[in-house]
Amino acid sequence: LRELACEKDLRGKKIVVSAGATQEPMDPVRYLTNHSTGKMGYAVARACMLRGADVTLLSSTGCTLPPVPFVKMVPYTTAEDLFDAVRQHAMDADALVMAAAVADYRPATVAEDKVKKQDGEMTLALERTQDILAWVGDHKPEKLFVCGFSMETRDLIENSTAKLHKKHMDMIVANNLKVPGAGFGVDTNVVTLITEQGSESLPLQSKDAVAHRIADAIAAVR
Ligand code: CTP
Ligand code: CA
Repeated sequence: LRELACEKDLRGKKIVVSAGATQEPMDPVRYLTNHSTGKMGYAVARACMLRGADVTLLSSTGCTLPPVPFVKMVPYTTAEDLFDAVRQHAMDADALVMAAAVADYRPATVAEDKVKKQDGEMTLALERTQDILAWVGDHKPEKLFVCGFSMETRDLIENSTAKLHKKHMDMIVANNLKVPGAGFGVDTNVVTLITEQGSESLPLQSKDAVAHRIADAIAAVR
């Protein structure tokens, strides 16, 4: 109840959040994916909803989390699906928060029938997926605030700042996977918020608390 009483400082804002892992099929049985569970993105969607925003959550069909109430849930499976959903829902929004862990590569061909094993080794040809945030960076309307995420195992600030610039984001939430309490599946995170103005490293805290810090940044725009 205390949560519901939070200030409605995002009322009137349309916010699109992506969450979870893409799944890239290689045949009707198998797919390539990653360890993202969607917890961080769901927390952002929930925080923005509680603060009065009109929220659309682009959620991987691989997410097993309960839907966020009072939020428009849009499912996606592949990076291509997510690209379509972002173009459809985010281009007239006030903010896009890309917490989804998007595959950089997908199987170059998807077999119609189950791939049967052979003697010896096999190799799988991969092709690049669309970099969705790079596209958004090149096409975004003036009013769209873009927040990306960055997961690194080394050179966190340098690598993440390079992504911020390259994809013309307004903010990037960087986390080092090797720090205890950060990363996949857990309810806490250890992040550094990076903007053109500089960086702020936050102590270990719940993903809900990190989500409210992201909501603060959206609320502070103009
Ligand atoms: N992202 C995206 N489209 C992709 C890959 C990533 O929109 N095809 C987004 C992610 O959702 C995230 C941000 O870009 O918000 C950074 O993703 P990350 O994987 O950390 O960076 P990459 O630019 O893909 O670089 P690399 O994986 O090589 O570190
Ligand atoms: Ca990547």
